[in-house]
Amino acid sequence: MTSGEIREQFLDFFKNKGHRIVASSPVVPYDDPTLLFTNAGMNQFKDVFLGTGTREYNRAANTQKCIRVSGKHNDLEEVGYDTYHHTFFEMLGNWSFGDYYKKEAISWAWELLTDVWKLPKERLWATVYETDNEAFNFWKTVTDIKHDHILKFGEKDNFWEMGETGPCGPCSEIHINLLEDYDNPIYVNMGSPVCIEIWNLVFIQNFRDADGKLHDLPAKHVDTGMGFERICRVLQKESSNYKTDIFSPMIKVIQSLSGVKYNKMETIVPINVIADHIRTLTFAIGD
Ligand code: SER
Repeated sequence: MTSGEIREQFLDFFKNKGHRIVASSPVVPYDDPTLLFTNAGMNQFKDVFLGTGTREYNRAANTQKCIRVSGKHNDLEEVGYDTYHHTFFEMLGNWSFGDYYKKEAISWAWELLTDVWKLPKERLWATVYETDNEAFNFWKTVTDIKHDHILKFGEKDNFWEMGETGPCGPCSEIHINLLEDYDNPIYVNMGSPVCIEIWNLVFIQNFRDADGKLHDLPAKHVDTGMGFERICRVLQKESSNYKTDIFSPMIKVIQSLSGVKYNKMETIVPINVIADHIRTLTFAIGD
């Protein structure tokens, strides 16, 4: 399956579940002084979550151009050295604005991953926020994930916030373990390149103010984000995002222009960095 087909299948799946397909916002959030770059698909819907804006639809899906090089979400130092972080990436997302909540978000994510894309269920792990028994129970009742593959983590891993302030809430992540030892929980959230998070389902119900205080929002919302380059790597059965059809044409050109072969750590890392940064700069300048 090509990356183009994967993107289309994601959007079609949610279109069939009543979602409006919307455009990505620019990587520069012109109307939000709290962010230098767009760091998540939910940025363009911040006003809806805060209750200060509305849309003519209450379910949306898209692919969002994101840059994570500053502030709360900064992946710059990982890029090139590991196989799955980028300064620029696409985030596939579906949203509910005061409409469906945890049950549908969890059951549809599972359906897309295991029914449509046929990912091996035994390799998938779900994490939930330590106090979120509701999400924990939905994983048990609306999916057929192995019950011991549902794990609880604290604020660092399972409470998502866009920045120092803004809409936020408990989240439930889906990880895939590609190791031979795939039935072992110890790899989840350990930074392993072969046990990676692929999708984050955020249940937006709070607002963090400038004093760091949490408040309840007027309604409950869903904000999900799947790493497009990661899911392409998994579905194309590659060992690195850079080996997917998203990056491999660029890597080929970089090798031929530089005369340097992509065949050992000393050259793989800088070539990855060049390929990654060219995308970031192209979209940053363009937007
Ligand atoms: N906002 C969440 C994230 O960026 C889910 O879309 O991970």
